Amino acid sequence: MPNIVVVGAQWGDEGKGKVVDVLAPHVDVVVRYQGGNNAGHTVVVGREKFVLHSIPSGILHPRRCCVIGCGVVIDPAALIEEMEALVQRGVILDGNLFISKNAHLIMPYHPALDLASEAKRGERRIGTTGKGVGPAYVDKAARVGIRMADLLDEPLFKEKLVANLEEKNRLLREIYDAQTFTVEEILGPYLRYAGWLAPYITDTSLLLNRLIDEGRSVLFEGAQGTMLDLDHGTYPFITSSNTTAGGASVGTGVPPTKIHGVLGVSKAYTTRVGNGPFPTELRDETAELLRARGNEYGATTGRPRRCGWLDAVVLRYAARVNGIDTIAVTKLDILDQCETVRICVGYRYRGELLTEFPEEERIWRDALPVYEEMSGWQCSSAGVRAYADLPTKARQYIERVAELTGREICLVSTGAVREHTVLMEDSPLPRWFPSLGSTPF
Ligand code: IMP
Repeated sequence: MPNIVVVGAQWGDEGKGKVVDVLAPHVDVVVRYQGGNNAGHTVVVGREKFVLHSIPSGILHPRRCCVIGCGVVIDPAALIEEMEALVQRGVILDGNLFISKNAHLIMPYHPALDLASEAKRGERRIGTTGKGVGPAYVDKAARVGIRMADLLDEPLFKEKLVANLEEKNRLLREIYDAQTFTVEEILGPYLRYAGWLAPYITDTSLLLNRLIDEGRSVLFEGAQGTMLDLDHGTYPFITSSNTTAGGASVGTGVPPTKIHGVLGVSKAYTTRVGNGPFPTELRDETAELLRARGNEYGATTGRPRRCGWLDAVVLRYAARVNGIDTIAVTKLDILDQCETVRICVGYRYRGELLTEFPEEERIWRDALPVYEEMSGWQCSSAGVRAYADLPTKARQYIERVAELTGREICLVSTGAVREHTVLMEDSPLPRWFPSLGSTPF
């Protein structure tokens, strides 16, 4: 059975949660491999809306094995809150959720450092979610991070906490003039979290590899998006993990040779939350329309998302760095009212036409998008479930996206609920997920 990575092809919030939710019944395992509770994966099941931050979206399907891999950073208080909310809504976690021993902890000083360093950056601030994700990855790379396994070893946990706090408190006090922490105020709650989480903590690389060797299939659920990747994104306006498909292997301990395909997810337009380059950003009434119709407000922070036209240069770049085989296009219905729709096919920079995404920050800042314009379909595509039932001009738009990216489109989402999904027969999906069929809902 193939193991597939689902990855965001833009700046996050592409609708990966919904795509994973649609595919989850057709795989055995869903695993998160990077990021933390900066992510917000929204899944609508019937009339119920779930926003998942650290737990894989597959958890909403009974008996789906869900894994939080070693590449994820975990705020235990936030994770327990998320787990309790799911349990209250009838979701069974015991026996279905597994947390890597090697995943790093977000400690209370991480959000404090995140907020303090952002405040100090002023104009150059990144616009982080303030969840402490960046500082937790800093500690991981600096080899002073505290891992889930350490949480289960009280003396070791205390030793690491004391050593870290000495340095973090100095940083908070002397560099940032911010509030400091005592060992006691962290130790007590974290030991209680340890008791709560202990039954779920395990060697997830061993678990995943055993399951794969037994013939089970795994879906790797990416968080954030390609353009927020630590190495391949719009540095420094990025998140602190490898959001791209390569991160799936490192962040789980499943070797690349056991991963068989990559599905990229893109909205039918583009959004970005936080600061940094966004060549197709709009600041007019179309942006307002997209934000209002698409409910473009951050699932984690509630911040309004910046909105703009689809950028095919970004998508081609994402296809290259992730090895995307096929693309799922989400939120097509949000464009329904547009008189014209535009797709960016290149950038104009100092008289030169660029057709590849540039690596230099100074070019992003000044590059102007070059658009291809198509007339809009101006009728409803909401809730459409068969490709033939989409408005002709909407189909032309989808086909143009496929041409410009050189990738087949495998799925089109026409609404928030599972059922509002068009599955394309002529795509890798039926091969990857044979039980999916063409009308699974
Ligand atoms: P951090 O991940 O909180 O450090 O934030 C760094 C950048 O990534 C900021 O621009 C955030 O807005 C952005 N970001 C982090 N998580 C998400 C997400 O789940 N969706 C979209 N943007 C995100």
